[in-house]
Parts: sequence; structure tokens; C-alpha cells
Amino acid sequence: SRRFNIAAIAGDGIGKEVLPEGRKVLEVAARKFGLDLQFTPFEWASCDYYLKTGAMMPPDWKDQLAGMDAIYFGAVGWPATVPDHISLWGSLLKFRREFDQYINLRPVRLFDGVPCPLAGRKAGDIDFYVVRENTEGEYTNLGGIMFPGTERELVIQESVFTRHGADRVLKYAFELASARQRKHLTVATKSNGIAISMPWWDGRADAIGKDYPGITIDKQHIDILTARFVLQPDRFDVVVASNLFGDILSDLGPACTGTIGLAPSANLNPERNFPSLFEPVHGSAPDIAGRGIANPIAQIWSGAMMLAFLADAPDAGPGYREAHDAIVGAIEQVLKDGPRTGDLGGKANTVEAGDAIARALEAA
Ligand code: NAD
Ligand code: IPM
Ligand code: MN
Repeated sequence: SRRFNIAAIAGDGIGKEVLPEGRKVLEVAARKFGLDLQFTPFEWASCDYYLKTGAMMPPDWKDQLAGMDAIYFGAVGWPATVPDHISLWGSLLKFRREFDQYINLRPVRLFDGVPCPLAGRKAGDIDFYVVRENTEGEYTNLGGIMFPGTERELVIQESVFTRHGADRVLKYAFELASARQRKHLTVATKSNGIAISMPWWDGRADAIGKDYPGITIDKQHIDILTARFVLQPDRFDVVVASNLFGDILSDLGPACTGTIGLAPSANLNPERNFPSLFEPVHGSAPDIAGRGIANPIAQIWSGAMMLAFLADAPDAGPGYREAHDAIVGAIEQVLKDGPRTGDLGGKANTVEAGDAIARALEAA
């Protein structure tokens, strides 16, 4: 059994409010299950740091983080003072790419006690994963603007897909589907309109699928797929998507289950050559930041996902898997019995909601 070193990066806005709640719950879990977690906080990767220094991170950021076992991350972005593409390409997107966190795993689940905006759905009816490709695709800085400032402005932004990149995320998704009961994989594409990359992506799904004869493959164009998230969410088990499609689906899915304030994510380098990063799906929410009313559950659940990933590290001690399950259980209990934050129709503030989950975990 060993110690895990974890970088704690709060970022901006509600990231600074929800990260402490996540740490609070993880510290209860550590005591209760005998986990050895050592947190190191970092002030950088934030717009405050950018305004002070002119950069989102210090030049040696990679050395400072490379030896960490995981990064526990809040949210970055403060568009009132720093343009979003500067803050995000200077931090989160760098982590994903330079630490080769090529899987972005985002569960979508409808819980008891959470008002569902879709008619006639109850807890258990919606339970699937979005597996988002996290290092290539539509997220590139390849391209440019010609004749800027003139009537002839011409804008090119390339998408990049590699066989290596597509195959590894598809394999991960097929493996995940294999471990689940329904053994169903939806492949998000757009092979009618995006006529080069998407038919190719379909072909890679078929090629990788040959090794998984027990999995049903359901290729869907992204447009109708978004409609079905709303109309037939019970149809999904594992959904694999390119970077941008996965981004969109992973806000839509949680919205269909009541609030994006619950949705966690794991940015994984499955080979563990680099630290993986665990963060809410949501952002820094400038519209509610500073009021202490954000839902901390996405952050707390992301912490549980971190423990589940550490559980499978070669020399992890016991207790990590159990701690994950107990945190998810405590979240379920508090969602059912309250107190709940405003996005769920309740009156609790961020700290009260975090305390309730910490107490439920303590009592479990
Ligand atoms: P957002 O996710 O920050 O907010 C969208 C809406 O959801 C807002 O109305 C917000 O109040 C609400 N919301 C979000 N999280 C909530 C929570 N925990 N509890 C209750 N309500 C919550 O998305 P946005 O407004 O598009 O982006 C704001 C900033 O965050 C931008 O700078 C953006 O680039 C950045 N961003 C960062 C990340 C990240 O760090 N991973 C993710 C998304 C957006
Ligand atoms: C997410 C976010 C990021 C993304 C932004 C902030 C760059 O929306 O993690 O889903 O698009 O990946
Ligand atoms: Mn997003």
C-alpha cells in the first residue's frame, strides 16, 4: 500500500467554492477507509494568476504536476477578464493533451429525489456513460484567418483524427460496454454531412467492433442522437463520441437528468504514464459565483471517480473501491432525503450540501 499525491487546483469562480467540499468528503473517506491521500494545492491554472503574471501557469507546470498521481480540478474560466480560449488553452486543454488524457469518461444517471425534466422517467431509467475522445478531433489550433478585417475574411479551423486516437477511445468504449449488462454501444457520428472524417470514424468503429462480437453497435448521426437523448434516454448504455460531439452530449445528458450540477468527469490516461484529472463537467459559473450556492455534487462525485481510478493502480492499498461506492451511496442518500441546492429546487448552500454528504458518508 502506498501514498497517492494529488494536485488540488481550484481554478476560478465556483471552482473555488466546490473544490473544498470535494476535499472535505475525500478526507472523511480517507479516515474511514484508511486511504493515504496527500493533497498539494496550486494557485495557478486560474484567471487570477493570469492577471498577475500574464500566463495561466508557470513555465515548469509540467514538472510540478508530472509526478502527481492525480489532479483534482475545479473549473477554469473568467470571461469578463480573460478570453476563454486563452484561459482554457492555457490550462485544462494543455493538461488533457500533454498528459495524454485521451478518455473523458462522463456518467449520466437519474437519481431518486432529483426532478427530471423529461416526462415519465424515474431513477434507474437513465444510466449511461458518455466516452468522449479528449485529445484531438475538432479541438485544434490548426488554421487561421486570412484577410482579417476585410470583407474577404476567410476562416479555416482544421479537425484532426488519427487512427491511433480513434481506435484507442473506441477500444475503451467497447471494453466498458463489455463490462456492462446491456452490452450496447452508441457511436456518435455525422457521416452524412461531415463526409470525410465521420464515415471514416464509422469504419473504425466497425473495425474495432470485430473484436467485440457480443456488443451491439448503434451508429447515429449527432443531430438525431441529441433528440433521442431527450425522447428515449433509456436506449443508451455507452455512447462514444469525438471531442466536440462528446462535449455537447455530456452537458445534454446531465441536463436530461435534472442539472449539470451533478455531472462528474474523469480525464484518463489509462496507462498511468501521466496523472489523470478529475473535475466536474460544468464550468466556473460566473452567474452564480461568489454566492456560495453552487451544487458541490459534481465535484464530490468526481472525487469518487478519482478513488475508483486509484483503486486499480498496481500498488494501491485496500479501501479505495469501497470508498468510491460509499461516496456515491452518500450522494444518493442526500439527493433523496435532502438538503438540496437551488439547481435541484432546494434551499441549501454549497457548504450545507457538502456537509450533508460528509455526514452521510461518516454514518455509512
Ligand atoms: P457553466 O457550466 O460554468 O455554467 C452553465 C450554467 O450552469 C450556469 O447558469 C451556471 O450557474 C450553472 N451551473 C454550473 N455549475 C453549477 C453548479 N455546480 N451548481 C449550480 N449551477 C451550476 O458554463 P458556461 O457559463 O458556459 O461557462 C462559464 C465559464 O466556465 C467559461 O469561462 C467557460 O469557458 C468555463 N468552463 C470551464 C469548464 C472546465 O473548467 N472544465 C467547463 C465548462 C465551462
Ligand atoms: C468541458 C468544457 C471544456 C471543453 C471547455 C471549458 C474548453 O466545456 O470540460 O466540457 O470544451 O472540453
Ligand atoms: Mn463542456
